Amino acid sequence: MPPETLFRRIADPANRADPYPLYAELRENGVTRQEDGRYLVGTYHEIEALLHDPRISSDVRNRAEPDPDLAPAEGLPPAFLGIDDPEHDRQRRLTMRQFGPPHSPGRIDALRDDMTRIAEELADGLRGRERFDLVEDFAFPLPITVICDLFGVPEADRHQVHVWADTVIANLDFTPGEDPGPRRRAALEARRAMGLYLGELASQRQGHRGGDMLTGLVNDDGPDGRLTDVELMVTTVLLLIAGHETTVNLITNGMLTLLRHPGELERLRTRPDLMPSAVEELLRYEPPVHLLPQRTPLADVDVGGVTVPKGAPLVLVLASGNRDPLRFPDPDRFDPTREDNVHFGFGGGVHACFGAPLARLETQIALTTLLRTLDGPRLLEDPPPYRTSPVLRGPRHLPLAQG
Ligand code: HEM
Repeated sequence: MPPETLFRRIADPANRADPYPLYAELRENGVTRQEDGRYLVGTYHEIEALLHDPRISSDVRNRAEPDPDLAPAEGLPPAFLGIDDPEHDRQRRLTMRQFGPPHSPGRIDALRDDMTRIAEELADGLRGRERFDLVEDFAFPLPITVICDLFGVPEADRHQVHVWADTVIANLDFTPGEDPGPRRRAALEARRAMGLYLGELASQRQGHRGGDMLTGLVNDDGPDGRLTDVELMVTTVLLLIAGHETTVNLITNGMLTLLRHPGELERLRTRPDLMPSAVEELLRYEPPVHLLPQRTPLADVDVGGVTVPKGAPLVLVLASGNRDPLRFPDPDRFDPTREDNVHFGFGGGVHACFGAPLARLETQIALTTLLRTLDGPRLLEDPPPYRTSPVLRGPRHLPLAQG
């Protein structure tokens, strides 16, 4: 089949369960222009160079032709994920002051006990159940509860937040041949409603001290000033969405991978100290974010001998780079004790995942708790049904049996 059709095949939900042979083909072909004008990059060293190249923009407004799937909500500016330095750096630094060291060194660690308690409560609910869906019953509720705790979202509003987050994420689940209009409109509407809600919550916390991250953001007296009201809205929506589905998928992909490697599962059950390294390997071997669709060159750029023109859509296939044999020995082997594992699970460069310390800790706790609590878990469907998105890849359901 000619290389022009590769992106179509990667995007085809029929290939979601195992896209890795297509990625091998992508690496083999080198950088290729697809029939719709996209340029796909799947080799480790080229992806790494592009992630660190200041000529590569994350702002889709630099596209020669607009992409309606990547448009920000009407009337709202893009969040810092979708803008470039120096503005990206200002907003990211202001937000980071409330999330990690040096200004808020204890923020993530303070969530450790809560995360453990929530994971244990959810896992306890699975005891004695012969069959259950790991996504619905465990992986989905955990991250949304943790991120709502981080922002101090009141208990009564959490269901609504969950529905908004799900509607935004569902925009990535496209089905071939469907009219994308309704899901795009629903996602933009959910983004706006969520932003207004979080903006209102933040204004109620003005003048308060300490406590949750939202209170910290709205009352920051740091040397760089504060985020504006609109920046605060789009940033908090970004954090809630970016921190949700990705973590659900890492936990679910993690359990699926361990159940496919029972020897490793058993080793991790008796050696939970190996879990941090196992989670790094999961981020390489089965990452939740498979590709970054929103890069654009600000000038003509040479990538692996091919000129990618200014303004062209540039897609970095991170999950392909993670399996590049020129970077990782035996890349298709799941090795929880792999050393030298600088993967792209959290991207790289100036936009590298903001929430990585939280996602790592949460997944380590989730998987350790599951291995300790479940009684001889088994897969009921392999492969399980996947969400259709080629960007955020993970099972929609993971039906398991135990006992
Ligand atoms: C397993 C879970 C997660 C995965 C796999 C993941 C993955 C990623 C990736 C690949 C990027 C790079 C995007 C790009 O370069 O365009 C990114 C950026 C980002 N992530 Fe995560 N993420 C996870 C969890 C989280 C959490 C828990 C939060 C928030 C609490 C979060 C917040 C963000 C933000 C704000 C950015 C944008 C950073 C920037 O533009 O400077 N992520 N994430």
